[in-house]
Amino acid sequence: GSSWAADIDLAKKSTIEQILQKGELRVGFEAGYMPFEMTDQKGEFVGFDIDMAKMMAKAMGVKFVPVNTAWDGIIPSLITGKFDIIMSGMTVTQERNLKVNFADPYIVVGQAILLNKKHEGAITSYKDLNDSKYIVTSKLGTTGEQAVKRYIPKCTYKSFETETEAVLEVINGKADAYVYDQPNCVVIMAQQGSGNLVFLDEPFTYEPLAWAITKGDPDFLNWLNNFLRQVKNDGRYDQIYNKWIKS
Ligand code: ARG
Repeated sequence: GSSWAADIDLAKKSTIEQILQKGELRVGFEAGYMPFEMTDQKGEFVGFDIDMAKMMAKAMGVKFVPVNTAWDGIIPSLITGKFDIIMSGMTVTQERNLKVNFADPYIVVGQAILLNKKHEGAITSYKDLNDSKYIVTSKLGTTGEQAVKRYIPKCTYKSFETETEAVLEVINGKADAYVYDQPNCVVIMAQQGSGNLVFLDEPFTYEPLAWAITKGDPDFLNWLNNFLRQVKNDGRYDQIYNKWIKS
């Protein structure tokens, strides 16, 4: 188009058109956040979000293309078009929502706590950790980190690039507690908790998780919300939920 009106019209096209044209749905996530996205022994991406993404691509009749991206910078990567959608266990926060649109939440979680075993019985709530003598870990740029800073302001906070490192610090006794999304704590507790960790499993924050897309794309948002409602009610969501989350 040579006229500015035609250019604006083109710019307004939904991401859906591009997805159909390319024949692929490019999904951004950061593997390492069990049970939503992780890498298995064969090097393949697996998890709740991955299964949901595959189902989404199938419903669109296109190929699923995983794009593993660092958490720090995942929103700028979406905005600059490195992928079509973020499906990465992302909590809807008002701050993030100023930069992206979120579909309706596909699950609600909250922050929970994994303690070093030595604190068994002595620490029973996040409130007990609110003292500079306690070292609390979480992951850089997450709502876990925000929760520590907001609700446990007096603790000594130690930030890590990955969930794995943040947990290890607690297991080996260099830190006292790991604060993170409850479903992630469930998996870690089951895999590495025995003899090492104590699980305070009652979430102390309210966190809806949702898929993020670029702003100004009502067509894509409408498709996503209708897709979500459909799978939530026809058994497909339950199948994935039971596979990865329900214990
Ligand atoms: N729900 C948390 C947040 O939004 C953690 C998500 C981390 N996701 C990941 N794929 N590493 O900050």
